[in-house]
Amino acid sequence: MANVAVVGGAGYIGSHTTKALQDSGHNVTVLDNLSLGHRNAITTQLIEVDIREASQLRAVFEKGNFDGVIHFAALSQVGDSVKNPLAYYDTNVGGTLNLLEAMVGAGVKKIVFSSTAAVYGQPVVDATGITEDFLKLPINPYGNSKLAMERMIEDVSKAHGLRAIALRYFNACGADPEGNMGEDHLPESHLIPIVVAAGLGKLDPARNYRGQINVFGTDYDTPDGTCIRDYIDVNDLASAHVAAFEHLGLSIDGSYQAMNVGTGRGVSVNEVIQTASEVLGREIPVTYGERRAGDPAILLANSKKLQNELNWKPKRALADSISSVVKWMTKNPNGYNDR
Ligand code: UFG
Repeated sequence: MANVAVVGGAGYIGSHTTKALQDSGHNVTVLDNLSLGHRNAITTQLIEVDIREASQLRAVFEKGNFDGVIHFAALSQVGDSVKNPLAYYDTNVGGTLNLLEAMVGAGVKKIVFSSTAAVYGQPVVDATGITEDFLKLPINPYGNSKLAMERMIEDVSKAHGLRAIALRYFNACGADPEGNMGEDHLPESHLIPIVVAAGLGKLDPARNYRGQINVFGTDYDTPDGTCIRDYIDVNDLASAHVAAFEHLGLSIDGSYQAMNVGTGRGVSVNEVIQTASEVLGREIPVTYGERRAGDPAILLANSKKLQNELNWKPKRALADSISSVVKWMTKNPNGYNDR
């Protein structure tokens, strides 16, 4: 049993990981400023703190007696990052600097970092998928900030003897199987919640639920012309974090590695819509529109490194993830209902 600080643990992936850590017997404290996360998503004790506040964060770590950190706290909207890059450098890069200072000051040595496939930019992908040694060429401020965070963690790990793993996720999706936790973004931009909401006939413009799904581009160089992504269930992502955190107990001081987290299954936008209509047993209203700026045609993970080194395997199929989103949205029509 370890004392784990989950920074950003009120968010979508952070809250599912908090629960998975608890289920594995760890004692978890969530650190979050609740600016984007949800109080009702937290299943353990919360310390309200903003990672941009260095002295407050230091004080939390001096008292905390933490064995390690899982770091999720970040702004993560690609389009927003193009309009407001300074906010991304402030929260993501500046916040991570403060977090690392607080960890080094308090002698906390383990960190699992929430990174992203956005660090690869627009790679040329074949059926083997993207491996960790692909060139890191982000194409937006969000990806740049995440890559800067990774590099800062690597440098600090070497200098101060931290043990670190960066997990680069592909497309997170799904909800917990009981439908008590899920994705609640205002507005929503991700494909699967918008598709499921359309299938359920939900109308909520603030959330971007408009009774239909608009497919962004049908002229990509893919078999059906729509973009291909690697959708990884949030519960599988959570178990990858637990495995990575536990692996740090066996690692050596100063070690740093990055690992992709995906399924290795590429699914097109049209196939997502098809799967969701099979799960729901009804047609989903679709419109076809222009490409969205900055969308790569194909993102497909090669996560053999994670599978081999951490003995981790994704367990949920896309239809399972979509079913859990149906359950979450049906049980919680207004999400966490705390905005
Ligand atoms: N899409 C639509 N219509 C929509 C929403 C999405 O057609 O209404 C399409 C997108 O064009 C894309 C696919 O569905 O082809 C998936 O889009 P998402 O917005 O769900 O996810 P992204 O692949 O854009 O984003 C994910 C992560 C980001 C990360 C990025 C890396 O959410 O954090 O991958 O490229 F930066």
